Amino acid sequence: MDRLLVKGPTKLEGTVEISCSKNAYLPILAGVLLTMEPVVLVDLPKLRDVKTMNKLLAELGVVITYEGNKTTYDSSNITSCEATYELVKTMRASILVLGPLLARFQKATVSLPGGCAIGARPVDIHLRNFERMGVEIELDSGNVVAKTAGLEGHELNLSFASVGATENLMLGAVLAKGTTIIKNAAREPEIIDLANFLTTLGAKVSGEGTNEITIDGVEKLHGGEYRAIGDRIEAATYVIAGLITKSEIEVTNFIPEHLGAVFSILEGMGAKIERGENGVRVFPSTLTGATIDTAPYPGFPTDVQAQMMTLLGVVSSSSVLTEHIFENRFMHVPELNRMGAKIALNGSVAMLEGKCSYKAAPVMCTDLRASAALVLAALVAEGETEIRRIYHLDRGYEHLEKKLSALGANIKRSRE
Ligand code: UD1
Repeated sequence: MDRLLVKGPTKLEGTVEISCSKNAYLPILAGVLLTMEPVVLVDLPKLRDVKTMNKLLAELGVVITYEGNKTTYDSSNITSCEATYELVKTMRASILVLGPLLARFQKATVSLPGGCAIGARPVDIHLRNFERMGVEIELDSGNVVAKTAGLEGHELNLSFASVGATENLMLGAVLAKGTTIIKNAAREPEIIDLANFLTTLGAKVSGEGTNEITIDGVEKLHGGEYRAIGDRIEAATYVIAGLITKSEIEVTNFIPEHLGAVFSILEGMGAKIERGENGVRVFPSTLTGATIDTAPYPGFPTDVQAQMMTLLGVVSSSSVLTEHIFENRFMHVPELNRMGAKIALNGSVAMLEGKCSYKAAPVMCTDLRASAALVLAALVAEGETEIRRIYHLDRGYEHLEKKLSALGANIKRSRE
């Protein structure tokens, strides 16, 4: 198993280019199932989650060809409508093939994603709303077995603005009969990107980015070419890397507006961030603590909570951080405390004293963003930090050690 060795403390300098968003591309990849014609995706990040989705699509019969930075998907000959446990268990986003398969083939069997490290993460909102669109759903031996005489447009009202459920229902509704209105829809930038992708293929979607999305079903979709937005979570991670190391760095290829809530918190703490159209420049800053509550977009993203916690560990005053989206998303806390942070937990609330100096220690990754939090601590920790189980990082950070090394970090990958 691979591990990372990071020698700190370090200063960073230069420019880092952010990859295209994994969380935008995963639903788009499920969306290639919707058309008989070829779909070309540009600059897909080389990440484990993308590979897993490609493997799942290939198992369903999609023919995938790679040429330079373009990947072409031919879904004209789908041979199976079943997503097996082996793949779904490694990536919960596999559930997103449910909508496209139901829309095009009127049936799908998708293994039920189990609990995952950061919480129970049920899919009840997906299933309940597909039922409203005319789908019969049975649970059989851990599988969701779904069939329909044809998806019907419906007015849906989500009990929570779930990102995945909004995406899955959009993916089904584009080929449904009639109009679907998704109320209390998620508003994340990745939802807008999915709408833009589907529109490129001829779908009729409006209202994306608001809490009410309207989709007029069409008979079929055509092919097309698409490049997803920059990864706002990866961007936030590098911005925090710049701030924690008190460095001046430039972070490019993402839309700063997508990190509005993160930047306003950081600026409130004293961070100097110069926003451009396609990225930001971060300057060495003296930072104080903050009170942060994670929330659905446009609120503070849960996916930046762990990285932010690492930063709050070293600032000059105390902070309170409350996690509202996932019930068990504090697994990085004991590891950060082992490196010297002073974080106390009370349910979903983390209280940080600040003013810590991280010290190197062997630490273990527990989930994707928790792993990024440990890398950030290691950048400023005195000594060599050994970070194990980095397969979590490989799910979501393309070329992490290459990008950090190019900025001047002392980081290398080796076998355990
Ligand atoms: C997506 C992101 C993930 C991010 C999360 C919240 C992808 C691939 N993943 O995950 O990185 O952390 O949004 O911004 O884009 N819930 C239910 N029932 C459901 C669906 C969700 O109870 O049917 C709950 C979940 O357990 C969780 C909350 O709603 O507590 C948020 O989940 P959701 O917005 O669906 O997140 P994901 O789409 O899984």
